[in-house]
Amino acid sequence: MSQLLVRGGRPLDGEVTIQGAKNSVLPILAATVLTGDQVVLRGCPRLRDVDTSIRILRSLGCQAEWEGDALAVDTAALNCCAISDILMREMRSSAIFLGAILARLGQADISYPGGCELGPRPIDLHLSGLRDLGTDIREEGGVLHCTAPHLTGRELVLSLPSVGATENLMLAACGAEGTTVISNAAREPEIVDLQEFLKACGADVAGAGSSSVTIRGGRPLHGCEFRCMPDRIVAATYLCACAAAGGGVYLRNARERHLATVADALRKAGCTVTSDGGGIACRCRRRLRAARPVRTAPYPGFPTDAQAVLMAALLKSRGTTVFEENVFANRYRHVDEMTRMGADIRVAGRVAVVTGVERLSGAAVRCTDLRGGAALCVAALSADGESRIFETSHIDRGYEDIAGDLRALGADAVRVDNE
Ligand code: UD1
Repeated sequence: MSQLLVRGGRPLDGEVTIQGAKNSVLPILAATVLTGDQVVLRGCPRLRDVDTSIRILRSLGCQAEWEGDALAVDTAALNCCAISDILMREMRSSAIFLGAILARLGQADISYPGGCELGPRPIDLHLSGLRDLGTDIREEGGVLHCTAPHLTGRELVLSLPSVGATENLMLAACGAEGTTVISNAAREPEIVDLQEFLKACGADVAGAGSSSVTIRGGRPLHGCEFRCMPDRIVAATYLCACAAAGGGVYLRNARERHLATVADALRKAGCTVTSDGGGIACRCRRRLRAARPVRTAPYPGFPTDAQAVLMAALLKSRGTTVFEENVFANRYRHVDEMTRMGADIRVAGRVAVVTGVERLSGAAVRCTDLRGGAALCVAALSADGESRIFETSHIDRGYEDIAGDLRALGADAVRVDNE
């Protein structure tokens, strides 16, 4: 068990390199199964969810070894089509292995995935799309027995642009005969990264980043070397850290085009956000103003994953900001913890109303989920005195070293590992 100790009240001044994107690397690790070959993923972040993916790959008979900051995966010896319930429950992205294993072996046994508790997180869209491609799915004792001797490409229309379903279906479609078109596909930059990876392996995929992704399946895939995109949510977290603490930071590798809505909200609140070819700079010299209403939505809308960190940045702003969470049903679990620091937040259903307060005080708080936990670190930077942040294992799922990064940015933050 470890804690983060954050002493607030110190303006930031520093720079940091943004790690590779968790939400890009996880589906890519599942996609390595398609190749039956060696893949080298450069700039792969060392995260708990990446460890889980490695354990899944090894449990399937594949090899995965770190070589510095590169992860070398060899899926040639894949000899198992089942993922244990324990591994499935460790993260949401375990579900993406389903499409890849089916495409490679024609059968797969999995149970329902775990992940952050943000309200119900069904995988019905994944399963109905896989059925449409020709998969027979039987559920028995919590296990989904899936068989697909002949996946066949066709048009799939998602009823909502689910990121995970789009990825799962892209992977299955690579192993299907003929053309699959996924309509109402998610448009997140991580989908584009997955497409680029698949193309580097020899797949014929086009359209990612738009609502229609076309996969011409049945091609033999091969290994490749690939560098995944920088993590836009980690970058959003550190932009919000700067907004909360004041001062100036430079985030090497961060791409503003992935962060337009977050940068825009911060500018409206009074920060100066600029970018050059190499990264994004943020400066905040005064008390922030409240932001316009923040409505989360699928990309290119405001990311639900950045809702909590932006809220943390605005806790001491002048005025009132309305948040509307439209992607997940239960994504305000960080609010009670922020209230312990003196925040004024009222939640009613999907809406949270944040009224800026003059001061926050450091407190003992508990991470409730990955981004909510990161948001507590951000809030702690603007609180007087020390905050102790518990249950940091949630944060470890998505941040390589949040305390080290915040220190590089000039904050007083340390991780303490308890017995
Ligand atoms: C991914 C991201 C997560 C982010 C989310 C939304 C990864 C590893 N995780 O999660 O960080 O918060 O996108 O940007 O990339 N839904 C259904 N049925 C389904 C699938 C989804 O009803 O079969 C619903 C979900 O419950 C949720 C909404 O659709 O309310 C969006 O979910 P989705 O886009 O699938 O998110 P994830 O892929 O789980």
